[in-house]
Amino acid sequence: VEWSDNERAIIADVWSKIDVGEIGPQTLARVLIVYPWTRRYFGAFGELSSVAVVLANRKVATHGRVVLNALDVAVRDLDNIKSAYSHLSSLHRYQLHVDPANFRLLADCLTIVIATKFGAAFSSDVQSTWHKFMAVVIAALGSRYF
Ligand code: HEM
Repeated sequence: VEWSDNERAIIADVWSKIDVGEIGPQTLARVLIVYPWTRRYFGAFGELSSVAVVLANRKVATHGRVVLNALDVAVRDLDNIKSAYSHLSSLHRYQLHVDPANFRLLADCLTIVIATKFGAAFSSDVQSTWHKFMAVVIAALGSRYF
C-alpha cells in the first residue's frame, strides 16, 4: 500500500483528535447494538440483551478502548500494518473464531462515530483517506484467514 504525504497527514490528524476512552466504547457499543449477532462472541461480557445494557456494560467500554488502542499500532506504522496485525489476525481466527466479515462492520461503526463527532471537519478528503486506512486495517486483520 502506498500512502501520500497528504494521506499520512490526514490519518495522523484524525487520530490526534480521537479520544480512545470516548470513541472506543461508543464504537463497540454501536457494533453490538446495530449488529446483534456480534454479541455471540462476547459471552464473557455478561448481559448484552438490550441497547440500555450494552451502553451500561463496563466490559464493553473497557474492550472498546482495547480495540482502539490496537488501532494506534496501525496509525504509527502505516507501512507495516499487515505484519503488525498478523498475530491479532491469527488470534481472531483460531482462538476467537470471529467471522472476518465482522471487521468491516466494526470499521464502519468507527467511521460513523468519528464522522458524527467531527461534523463538517470530516470532509470528503478526510473521508476517503479514512476509508482507505480502514480498508487496509480490515485486510490486515483478515490476512491469516486466507
Ligand atoms: C479481542 C482488536 C474486531 C471480537 C481483541 C483484542 C484486541 C482486538 C487488541 C485483545 C487481544 C488480546 O487479549 O491479546 C480488534 C481490532 C478489531 C477487532 C483492532 C477491528 C478493527 C473484532 C470484531 C469482533 C472481535 C469485529 C467480533 C465481532 C473479539 C473478542 C475478543 C477480542 C471476542 C476477546 C475479548 C475478551 O474476552 O476479552 N480484539 N478486534 N474483534 N476481539 Fe477483537
